Amino acid sequence: MKIAARISRIVEPPHRRILKEALSRRSVVMNLSVGDIFIEPHPLVKDAVRKASEESSLTYPPVEGFSELRSLIAEYLVESRSLDVKAENILVTAGASEAFLVALMTVLDPGDRIILPDPTYPQHTLAANLFDSIMIDYYSQDSDVSNQVSGGKDGRSLILVCSPNNPTGKIISTKDMETLVEHARENGSTIVSDETYLEIFFDGNKPVSPGSFDTGLENTIIIGSFSKNMGITGLRVGFIASEKSMIDRASMVRYATSLTSNTLGQRVVLKTLPLINEISGYVRMNVEKRLRMFIQGFKRSDLLKVYEPQGSLYIFPYVPFKSFEFCLELARETGVVMAPGQGFGPSGENHVRISFGAREEDIINSIELLNGFEPKVERCF
Ligand SMILES: Cc1ncc(COP(=O)(O)O)c(C=O)c1O
Repeated sequence: MKIAARISRIVEPPHRRILKEALSRRSVVMNLSVGDIFIEPHPLVKDAVRKASEESSLTYPPVEGFSELRSLIAEYLVESRSLDVKAENILVTAGASEAFLVALMTVLDPGDRIILPDPTYPQHTLAANLFDSIMIDYYSQDSDVSNQVSGGKDGRSLILVCSPNNPTGKIISTKDMETLVEHARENGSTIVSDETYLEIFFDGNKPVSPGSFDTGLENTIIIGSFSKNMGITGLRVGFIASEKSMIDRASMVRYATSLTSNTLGQRVVLKTLPLINEISGYVRMNVEKRLRMFIQGFKRSDLLKVYEPQGSLYIFPYVPFKSFEFCLELARETGVVMAPGQGFGPSGENHVRISFGAREEDIINSIELLNGFEPKVERCF
C-alpha cells in the first residue's frame, strides 16, 4: 500500500525497540521506560469510577466536553494558575496528546516555524513531524529561554514550553517565563504550554503558567492533562485552554479526530476535580518517595550520573555510552528497560530516561541489577 511520504519522518520510539527485545529474551522485565503511574488509585478516584459507571449514559458527550466539566476546569485554572478563563475557553480532549495535535492542526500553516525544547517529550516531535513544510527548531529550557527563540519568518514562531519538562524535570523560572511571554507578545509568536506535570513538583518549586501574566491567554495555548496529577492515564482526559476564537476552531478540528473524549472519564474528572489538591498531593508524595529510592540507589553508581529533577516523573541521568547500545545491552542482560536519551532530541544522547512512576518492586530490583551491571559496550568518554 502507498504510505504518505511524511510518515517516513516518523521513527519507532527507541524505547519500544528496547522493550520488545527485553520481552523476547527475559522472563522478568522491569519497565522503567514509560511515563505511567503504577500507584494504587486514590480512594476518591476509585469511588468516582464506581459511581460514574453506575450513572453514566453511554451516548456521545458534546464535542467540546460536558458543559459542567468545562466550567469546572475553568474554575480549576483560575485557582491553580490564576488564569482569566471561563467555560468557553476550554475544550475537553482525549488527554494532552490529542490536545497537542488538535492545537497544532488549528494553528500551524506550511512555512511556519515551531520551536521545541531540547530535550523534549518524543511525541512533541512526532506530532510536529506530521505537518509538511514547517521548520522545526530547538532551544534549551535550562535558562534564558527568550534569547534563544528569536528570529524565524517575520520573527514569529510557535514556541512550545513544558515546565516541568519531560525528560529533564527542569522548571522554567517565573522571571524567565515572564520574559518569554513578553518576547512572544512583541513578535506575534504563539506559546503552547504543555502543563501535564504542573502539579508534580518537588521542594516547593511550583511552576508558573505563561497564561498567568497580564497578557492572559492572548496568543497562548494551554495543554492540560489529568493523566498524571490524578493517576488516571488510561481514562484519557485532558484539555486545551485558549482564546475563545481558537477553541471554537479547534472544536471543529475535533470532528475529524476523536469527536469527543469518553463519557466515563469525563464523569470521573467531574467528581474528582474539586478534590484535585488532595489527589495530586497523594500522587506527588508517592512518586517523590520513588524518586528518593532512585537517588539513594544510584548515589555511588559509576554508570549513571543523576541530578535531581525539580518536577515531572523522570530522572535523566548522564551515561558515558551511546544511549541506545547501553539500554539494549542492559535490557538483554538484566530485563531492566530504560528509554535511550537519543530519542529525546539533539542533546538527548549520552543520557537515559528513567520513570519513577514505575512499580516499587521494579525500582528496588532494577537498582540492584544496575549497580551490579558491567556493560561491554564501548565507553564514549
Ligand atoms: C510532556 C507530556 N505531554 C503529554 C503527555 C501525554 O499525556 P496524556 O496522557 O494526557 O495524553 C505526556 C505523557 O507522558 C507527557 O510526558
